[in-house]
This record gives sequence, C-alpha cells and structure tokens, in this order.
Amino acid sequence: MKAVIAGTGSEVPPKIVTNDDLSKIVDTSDEWIRDRTGIMERRVTDEGTATSDLAVIAAERALTSAGISPMELDLIIVATCSPDTLFPSVACIVQDRLGAKKAAAFDISAACSGFNFALSAAAAYIESETFKNVLVVGADTLTKYLDWTDRNTCVLFGDGAGAVALRGEKGDCGVLASYIRAKGEGRDFLVMPGGGTRDPEMKNGRFIRMDGKEVFKFAVHALEDSVKEIIQKAGFTFEDIDLLIPHQANLRIIEHVRKKFNLPEKKVYVNLMKYGNTSAASVPLALDEAVNEGRIKSGDLVVLAGFGAGLTYGSNIIRWR
Ligand code: UT7
Repeated sequence: MKAVIAGTGSEVPPKIVTNDDLSKIVDTSDEWIRDRTGIMERRVTDEGTATSDLAVIAAERALTSAGISPMELDLIIVATCSPDTLFPSVACIVQDRLGAKKAAAFDISAACSGFNFALSAAAAYIESETFKNVLVVGADTLTKYLDWTDRNTCVLFGDGAGAVALRGEKGDCGVLASYIRAKGEGRDFLVMPGGGTRDPEMKNGRFIRMDGKEVFKFAVHALEDSVKEIIQKAGFTFEDIDLLIPHQANLRIIEHVRKKFNLPEKKVYVNLMKYGNTSAASVPLALDEAVNEGRIKSGDLVVLAGFGAGLTYGSNIIRWR
C-alpha cells in the first residue's frame, strides 16, 4: 500500500508586505533583501486571523481536488510551530471545522521541516494500513512572532498554509521513501523562547530569535544531505528527478544545492520571491503552485526537502500519480 497524493491545496492571507514597505520601518533595503535572500514580498495575516484559519481553507481545497469528503478522513496531521493555542492542537480545530467526524487529529512540531515530518508519518500510517485517507497540512503564521524592529528576522518570514490529501492505493505511485533527522544540539540557533513551560510569562520576550549565520551553515548541509539521502534510499540518481521542491527560506541555500548536484533551474521549484519563508507551509504551498502551473505530470519523480528549527531536516520522494 502506498500513500498517494490525491489532491493539493493552499491559502495565503491577502495582505502583501514588500521589501520597500519594510525599509520604511527598519534599516534595510529592497536590494539587500533580494541579494541575500531572493525574497521580494511576503504575505502577513491580520490580527484576527490565526494559523487554523489558513489551514482550514488549504485543507478544504486539497480535499476538493482529491475528491475526498471530510467524513472519509481517518486522520488529520497539522505541521505547525505557531498554533492558535498551546493546546488544543490546530489539527483538532481543523477536524471540527471540516466536519471530519471520524478522523483522529494531532499536530507535529518540527518547525520548517514539519510538513516533511508529517508526510512521512502519514505515509507510515497508510503503508501499515492503519489508515486509508489522511490529510496533511503545513501551516504557520510566524509574522505574529516577529520583532518588526529586528532586521535580522523580520525580512525573512511570511504566513501561509498548504495541504495534501492522501489516499492509500496499491501500485507504484505515491510516497516511495521518507528521510527525517534532528540535531537537537543546535536548538538555540533558532528559537521562540517565550510562552512555553520554561518561560510561561514570556520574560524572554515573544519574538523569534535567530543566529542567521549558524542556521545558514546548517541549512546548506541539511538540504544537501536530505536530497542526496532520499534519492539514494529510493534507489534513484539525480538524473531521474523531475522536480525538487526545497524549503523556501533563502535562494542562496537553494542555489548552492542546485549547483552542487548539477540540477538545471527548471528542475528546482522556487516561489520564495512572493512569500518569503512560510515555515511548515513552504513546501506544500510550493507543491500546490507547482501542480497548478502544470510543472508536475503523471509519473514524475518529485523530491520534497526541508530544514528548520530544532534543528530538524528531512525529505520525501514521490512518484506522482
Ligand atoms: O527555516 C530556517 C529559517 N532561517 C533561515 O533560513 C536563515 C538562514 N540564514 C540566512 O538566510 C542568512 O544568514 C541571512 C539572510 C539571515 C543573513 O544573510 P548573511 O549573508 O548571513 O548576512 P549577515 O548576517 O552576515 O550580515 C551581513 C551584514 C551585516 O552588517 P555588517 O556587520 O557587515 O556591517 C548585518 O548587520 O548585513 C547586515 N544585515 C542587514 N542589512 C540590511 C543583516 N540583516 C540586514 C537587513 N538589511 N535585513
């Protein structure tokens, strides 16, 4: 039994914040942000919108495109590190709002790697025939935790959600292999310190803190490793890959890996110019856009790969149905 991606969906908030907008509130410039990251603009939620609001819309679109009704769902996994509340999970909110009355629901916390982690878990449930129809959502609204006076972080992130509806099917298509790893020793390099049990009163602040240089070094290695390992694990070569969808954090990280493995530009999907780093949403949002643009056709071999806080990293390889 394989976990086949039967449908995809995504949602971003309507408000666009450009690099020029940011240069009015912090000492930065469009030129610096483009040169160092590739980002041109990002989407930002308004005060009344939480992660689940984006997740539900992305989920509905994925289910519609798959032709799976909410009542047919056995499990909902939401990858997020910006849940509406510490508990209950975003997945339970999504379950209720979809009316997926027969589904179990839980969140996975692996920051920007979350979608790849959640997809690997979903695939394992389906392959073991524990569940048949599984919804996986990656959703984050990290702009709510940005210090808009800190140019090291506020230029990087944006909000969004992406989802896939998976169905267990026999055959050669679906998730062929998964690879997930963690390096907890680097956990201090990218942190949201407040709000947890170490600091429930948020004395350390309510903003993301990042050592950009350390995360960059890790990210280059993690993306390289995730792509190489998954291709080897599944028994393919780089020439076999039709499309790589990497985590959309920084164009320099993606370009480093693309050049290292001699992949032509058309085989690597990039949309971070429009959205910045949307954390757990980045990979499924890019996947949904790639599908809608006709960049993926039946039989294609697609690699999804990501890295993030934790530190975490991982990948999935999919034969497209
Ligand atoms: O999902 C994982 C999430 N995180 C990441 O992927 C982040 C990984 N790291 C990065 O992408 C890069 O390290 C950054 C984009 C964050 C920074 O790029 P960099 O090339 O590593 O820049 P830097 O930190 O070495 O800073 C170079 C200069 C510094 O000035 P000085 O010391 O040379 O005078 C910074 O103060 O650029 C300055 N700088 C900025 N200038 C204008 C830092 N941020 C900005 C900014 N605008 N936004």
